[in-house]
Amino acid sequence: MEQDIKEILVTQTQIETRTKELAHELMQDYQDKRPILIGLLKGSVPFMAELLKHLDIYAQTEFMVVSSYHGTVSTGEIHILKDLDVSIKDRHLVIVEDIVDTGLTLNTIMDLLMHRGAASVEVVCLLDKPSGRKIPVRVKYLGFTVPNEFVVGFGLDYNEYYRNLPYIGVLKEEVYSRR
Ligand code: IMP
Repeated sequence: MEQDIKEILVTQTQIETRTKELAHELMQDYQDKRPILIGLLKGSVPFMAELLKHLDIYAQTEFMVVSSYHGTVSTGEIHILKDLDVSIKDRHLVIVEDIVDTGLTLNTIMDLLMHRGAASVEVVCLLDKPSGRKIPVRVKYLGFTVPNEFVVGFGLDYNEYYRNLPYIGVLKEEVYSRR
């Protein structure tokens, strides 16, 4: 698998160090708020696990599965394949996401959760690809900014593979032409 990687953009050590810092920021801001961390499956799994290791406050964890069908239009459409099964009314929510690209996924989910009566909704996101943005999104807690390249690893996939790489990398061109 590693032989398919052209370049490493964010190393395992960088991810671990930055995630620990983000966990400490969350601890300060949510000390007495008993937040619900909402991971968006599947990409958020390693990032969520890394955050939780360092998050020494009362926090619950939940997951949602959403899929985006961007097509060729800029509006996009988000489908909820697995919804939350707890009430979020008057709760402080932190969405845990792997990457924000167009912003459509996070924007839609943040709106949805606010409409359901959450007390607050913020985002902690490992990566930001600002060049892909189609709609503004407020990411309060951000790990790293990456260039306009398709990245894999640490939860991010290409055709459901490479999520288990411990770093963020770019695939070699030849990988895309394989069957
Ligand atoms: P957005 O709605 O365009 O912001 O979509 C974010 C979702 O698109 C992420 O949760 C990923 O699943 C996927 N995505 C966007 N860019 C990449 C990438 O470079 N590699 C892998 N998945 C990506």
